[in-house]
Amino acid sequence: MSTPIVVAIDGPAGSGKSSVSKAAARKLDFAYLDTGAAYRAVAWHVLNTGTNPEDEQAVIDSLEEFGYDIGTDPDNYYVKVNEIDITEAIREVRITDVVSKVAKIPVVRQYLGDLFRHIMASTTKPGIIAEGRDITTVVAPDAPARILLTASEEARMARRSAELPQQSQDQTASALRARDAADSRVSDFMTAADGVVTVDSTDFSYEQTIDAVVEVIRSRTS
Ligand code: DC
Repeated sequence: MSTPIVVAIDGPAGSGKSSVSKAAARKLDFAYLDTGAAYRAVAWHVLNTGTNPEDEQAVIDSLEEFGYDIGTDPDNYYVKVNEIDITEAIREVRITDVVSKVAKIPVVRQYLGDLFRHIMASTTKPGIIAEGRDITTVVAPDAPARILLTASEEARMARRSAELPQQSQDQTASALRARDAADSRVSDFMTAADGVVTVDSTDFSYEQTIDAVVEVIRSRTS
């Protein structure tokens, strides 16, 4: 079996990186890895086991019982911890509120980085698109295609508002800014590192963004 092509996609909240990565994987018949889901799963596990998310050592200790399973088929996406399906639960606001706390713990990042590299290496598809903060720089710096998917703050807020019609625009805007601020403490996700191609989707439709990403992947891997 040949080594799968690894594609790394990074970008801020609301840039569309999850849906675009999944759609690009479908077009290329690649696997898809949502790394943010793993950080969310750790946050879920921490809350589910009654662990204090502020207590770094307790969070690290909780990883001993963290049986993680994620679907990498873009058409069969699921997230499980210890056999419990938490695909929907990890999107709850209570998880979003604590995920940055667990994501900033270096041992957690190391642990999940190793897990991601293992998942990438063991896919049976010709390639895998892995998306999330620091994937292009820390987890897969040698990937043949590395993309930073950006969009203006305004465009990202408009997209988030459309996804969350139950929230007021002010709520959406302040939640997104808070996420950006918390996440930027973990990694610099707005500046492309050397060799990383920026795709700015501010003026692109969803389809155009997918096509632009697929084009970069094809040009870098053919
Ligand atoms: O992309 P997302 O919203 O599902 O990410 C959830 C959280 O995990 C967010 O706080 C950023 C963090 N994260 C990270 O630090 N590194 C990654 N590779 C992916 C996500």
